[in-house]
Amino acid sequence: MSEPIEPVAAIRAEGVGKSYGATRALDGLDLTVRAGTVYGLLGPNGAGKTTAVRVLATLLRPDSGRAAVHGHDVVAQADRVRARIGLTGQYAAVDELLTARENLVMFARLYGYPDRVARERAEELLARFDLVGAADRRADGYSGGMRRRLDLAVSLLQDPDVLFLDEPTTGLDPRSRLQVWESVRVLVRAGTTVLLTTQYLEEADRLADRVAVIDRGRVIAEGTPNDLRSRVGGDRLDVVVRDPADLDAVADLLGRALGVRPTIDAAEQRVSAPAADRMDTLTRAVRALDGSGARVADVGVRRPSLDEVFLALTGSAAPADTAEVAA
Ligand SMILES: Nc1ncnc2c1ncn2[C@@H]1O[C@H](COP(=O)(O)OP(=O)(O)O)[C@@H](O)[C@H]1O
Ligand SMILES: [Mg+2]
Repeated sequence: MSEPIEPVAAIRAEGVGKSYGATRALDGLDLTVRAGTVYGLLGPNGAGKTTAVRVLATLLRPDSGRAAVHGHDVVAQADRVRARIGLTGQYAAVDELLTARENLVMFARLYGYPDRVARERAEELLARFDLVGAADRRADGYSGGMRRRLDLAVSLLQDPDVLFLDEPTTGLDPRSRLQVWESVRVLVRAGTTVLLTTQYLEEADRLADRVAVIDRGRVIAEGTPNDLRSRVGGDRLDVVVRDPADLDAVADLLGRALGVRPTIDAAEQRVSAPAADRMDTLTRAVRALDGSGARVADVGVRRPSLDEVFLALTGSAAPADTAEVAA
């Protein structure tokens, strides 16, 4: 009789619970992340993302349930877990008064690399994260994107098998966000398993192989980004008209052109319809509108937002930014 061949998951959580006083931050969290993939934990502020990362990274002890990294228990075998993971979060340890090169060499030494190796590692990571040009400038003068790239570089000094990124692009401008995304892709191509948390559906969509939507400390939906999108009805075509009197006619027109039933949002002067295929839907809509006499202010296809995902999955809007409760 042969054993079933089931590779050990890079990350596994089973029924993990964690409370801060009366706040139930994690309430039976289940996750399985396959090695070499990017996994997205998607949820609004207060959903439990940071708590989950801290438990998985051995920084916080769960009250209940179990979690393991490459089969090593995060509580009983915390040392073995720590040897295999890297973490960047809101409170990365980079010294802002030092340059990127100095930071990397300092941390490399701290991690026990001999001097020469520490310098080599620093150069390698500066190149990998496009920081060579800024290597001798103090980190306090860096843009948000450069700063995150330096955080990433520091967290990779020990060649982690599993990297946790807690909201790696929150607060970054669009260009810096793209740079961080590219850095994450580079890592994954090198074989690193990445678990990232985000409040942006688009970010999960761009980077993650699979996504868990979490709400109030538990997974409410799981799958590929496409699975999730199709659960909320996929992409939407929006046509905004200049004159509300045109709404019905435009809805009628789009309904016939696309073979779907559009919805009207009178307050926004907008007609929306499901877009099965972005380009095809857009092309057909523009053709139908062209010469129809309706005056169109805007037309476009967009992905559903996290708010819409939430609405579809929970039946209620994502909770607003909750203030941090003091411990
Ligand atoms: N140190 C803490 N003390 C008390 N409550 C906390 C603490 N950290 C987080 N919380 C609460 O736990 C819940 C989950 O928080 P968190 O894991 O930070 O969520 P997220 O990272 O998704 O925003 C929130 O209600 C938050 O206010
Ligand atoms: Mg957080």
